[in-house]
Amino acid sequence: MAKKVSYKEIGLSNTKEMFKKAYAGGYAIPGYNFNNLEQLQAIIRGSIECKAPVILQLSSGARKYADPIMLKHMGMGAVEYARDKGSNIPIVMHLDHGDSFELAKSCIDNGFSSVMIDGSHLSFEENIKVSKQVVQYAHDNDVSVEAELGVLAGIEDDVHAEHSNYTDPDEVEEFVGKTGVDSLAISIGTSHGAYKFKPKAGETPQLRFDILDEVVKRLPGFPIVLHGASSVVPEYVAIINKFGGNMKDAMGVPEDQLRRAARSAVCKINIDSDGRLAFTAMVRKSLAEDPSNFDPRKYLGAAREELVKLTIAKDTNVLGCAGKA
Ligand code: G3H
Ligand code: 13P
Ligand code: ZN
Repeated sequence: MAKKVSYKEIGLSNTKEMFKKAYAGGYAIPGYNFNNLEQLQAIIRGSIECKAPVILQLSSGARKYADPIMLKHMGMGAVEYARDKGSNIPIVMHLDHGDSFELAKSCIDNGFSSVMIDGSHLSFEENIKVSKQVVQYAHDNDVSVEAELGVLAGIEDDVHAEHSNYTDPDEVEEFVGKTGVDSLAISIGTSHGAYKFKPKAGETPQLRFDILDEVVKRLPGFPIVLHGASSVVPEYVAIINKFGGNMKDAMGVPEDQLRRAARSAVCKINIDSDGRLAFTAMVRKSLAEDPSNFDPRKYLGAAREELVKLTIAKDTNVLGCAGKA
């Protein structure tokens, strides 16, 4: 069995200072999902280049795909790479949508500096129970904990929800008080994946900022997290469709609403789908434009370069965290 390793030995940070500064500074930290080497390289390079703090996050699906032992060393590699480049940006390694105490514990024992326990599909009481259990173990190890109240529409890893169930602001104070979590993901109309809204012609999707405001009234100064917050960049969807893909009606959260959220109590914005789209667009384009190529470094390299650009653009124009490290 692999020996227990603390994130502190790896050089990672928890989210405490990061969120305090983000809240005060009116910006948000990105939670970028990754599954492979090229995605990790791109996110780290982009973050170093625009001097932004970063949360590298892994779903349990990503952990199964890439292997927990490999991931531990990839996390170490990312920190060592940044320091070798002379960069001191804070880097968090975070479990996204953890579904059990055992999984959260295993991540903490394998060098994660932050974990999410997603009990949003459980009853209020059961959600409190499992979140509190994770908090106790995590805080003994100085690891941050994110939990979720309210259910997002779409697919959350192993958690499936047909319809969204907005967060009830009347529940948040009791939940945070009883669990001791460090941040709270809420449901205000975002959803996972590339098909977030089906608005009628001429209508713009609207997040429920009124719910966010009510939550903030009950939890002043407390860091809020937005999941399902990709803008589903139309340019990438167009490239995918041009080069053989089929992503009709893909639609994300308008960027101005994400910017508004980032200026408020929202301290963490999760982005997975936009990274997938950038990557897929460039793989499709590269292979279509050079059908004789069979060297993965060419098409994965093209995808990696685009993901660096996306990271910088998001941090600079949407989250506002560029230059804040
Ligand atoms: O919120 C879910 C993330 O987008 C992760 O997706 O379970 O397919 O890795 P995944
Ligand atoms: P998107 O699917 O909008 O990128 O959301 C990702 C997410 O919330 C990961 O937890
Ligand atoms: Zn999510």
